[in-house]
Amino acid sequence: MSNACVEALLKRRSIRVFKDAEVPLDMILKAVEVARYAPSAGNKQPWRFVIIRDSKRLEDLAKLLRYSKPLTSAKVAVLVLANKDESPTSYMVDASLAAMYFWLALHCMGLGAVWIQTLRNINELLEFVNAPQNYVPVALFAIGWPAEQPEPKERKQLKEITYLEKYGENIGAHQ
Ligand SMILES: Cc1cc2nc3c(=O)[nH]c(=O)nc-3n(C[C@H](O)[C@H](O)[C@H](O)COP(=O)(O)O)c2cc1C
Repeated sequence: MSNACVEALLKRRSIRVFKDAEVPLDMILKAVEVARYAPSAGNKQPWRFVIIRDSKRLEDLAKLLRYSKPLTSAKVAVLVLANKDESPTSYMVDASLAAMYFWLALHCMGLGAVWIQTLRNINELLEFVNAPQNYVPVALFAIGWPAEQPEPKERKQLKEITYLEKYGENIGAHQ
């Protein structure tokens, strides 16, 4: 599997500690630009991105959410919202795909990020960014220049997650 694109995918990590160095807004906008090209059901693109750079607001966000320590050293946070009305049967999937494209674009530009869980605090997050109730906050990214280089986390083996033709049928010789 030596191919530049595959290598880049395999090198992405969740980065939770960031340097005290500014992140240009243009870089964040470039990553959003890339996320616009994520696929979506019927090309409805039911996603929005709220960029949070104010240091006091980043602190407040860190207090609001569990497992959000990365926000204490992040220079930027981006909240990915999904519009339920624009794609009632696919908004979560579509916005998650855009979120993943966004994360990968940051990674390709050398920025570090981690996805912080949003679904325990839907109403608080909507209020935090003044978004209407027909949105769901799908992902919050803490972003900055990486100050750590984590090893890859353990993954399930291919044979544990892949079957041929029917569920439970071993991939046998192909594994
Ligand atoms: C939906 C989702 C929610 C996550 N929530 C958190 C979180 O709240 N805090 C955190 O530090 N990491 C969070 N993560 C990051 C995961 O812990 C991480 O992706 C996983 O351990 C694999 O590590 P890797 O991203 O470095 O490959 C989340 C990831 C996803 C996809």
